[in-house]
Amino acid sequence: MITEKAPGKLYIAGEYAVVENGYPAILVALDQFVTCSIEESAAEVGKIISRQYHNNALQWHRLGEQMVVDNRDNPFSYILSAIKVTEEYARSFARELRIFDLHIDSQLDSDSGKKYGLGSSAAVTVATVKALCHFYNLPVTKDEIFKLAAIAHFEVQGNGSLGDVAASVYGGWIAYHSFDRQWLAQQRKYLDLRTLVDLPWPDLKIESLRAPNNLQLLIGWTGKPASTSQLVDKISLFKARQQKEYRQFLEDSKHCIQRMVEGFHNADLESIKNEIRYNRELLKQLGTNSGVHIETPVLNKLCQIAEDFGGAAKTSGAGGGDCGIVAIDRDSNFKQVLKKWAANKIEQLPLSVHFIENVKG
Ligand code: MEV
Repeated sequence: MITEKAPGKLYIAGEYAVVENGYPAILVALDQFVTCSIEESAAEVGKIISRQYHNNALQWHRLGEQMVVDNRDNPFSYILSAIKVTEEYARSFARELRIFDLHIDSQLDSDSGKKYGLGSSAAVTVATVKALCHFYNLPVTKDEIFKLAAIAHFEVQGNGSLGDVAASVYGGWIAYHSFDRQWLAQQRKYLDLRTLVDLPWPDLKIESLRAPNNLQLLIGWTGKPASTSQLVDKISLFKARQQKEYRQFLEDSKHCIQRMVEGFHNADLESIKNEIRYNRELLKQLGTNSGVHIETPVLNKLCQIAEDFGGAAKTSGAGGGDCGIVAIDRDSNFKQVLKKWAANKIEQLPLSVHFIENVKG
């Protein structure tokens, strides 16, 4: 049995702007994982089995006749896409394709299939790609795993930045500049997968960051899952309607992230906190201008409580529910935030950062 795992993630800042080519965001990988185990099968069809995904099992067939679950919010779609892409890659290494059963175990979803918004679709894609590369004995680097998982994820979701895939592959804190996904879609039509994976991808830049020692990250869960792809679609309507305001938002977000990256380089928690607050204001403004509920009343409460105790807080990811994050001084009385959250029915997710040193220059 081959087993590989991939971590979940949180956005710290730069959401929505990072959907545009070359715009940056800061993310962190968490110490909660999706695990993918593979076992060769003598049967004619393989099975995908997962306790968390609707207590479900799915049968899949060989590439070409594979079942397609065409739903961006269904984890099986990402698993099938990861199988398809990785097997296409395996064939370019002259590997003979085999039938297998896949067991998925996700710490990023509750056992009843409830999502916390911690990047489970990216993590399940990365874990499946890694496990299959191992199964077919493919000589892959982290960069190649990122590209395979990015293609597999993009071909299902279609509108995201793929920052969550990068966080899941490289781990730790990262500054991620998204690449030109239109270019990717075009090249995918004309190039074979191996050539595409070998090429440099326009605008893609991933830098590993080191967090200041006194930075304590708190994560509050609103109790309400949100659909990232639907929210991103809604923001693109605003983009089409109010181009000037949208461009201003992109530039403001970019400068905010640049200053925040400086804050990481200088281990300056106060400056990181200031930029988190500024990024929150940008996202609130984007929500007001577009009519999309990014910061919901519960997220607003979650942030307000953290601010009252000296933390810098904002929505994490697309908003509309899911999680809020807080950066606060480790030496402060931050447990007060957790108490007040609990009194307001905001659940703390007791997660810590998945730290991998020096994964990217
Ligand atoms: C969602 O987690 C973050 C967004 O920026 C979308 C994306 O980057 O794919 C809103």
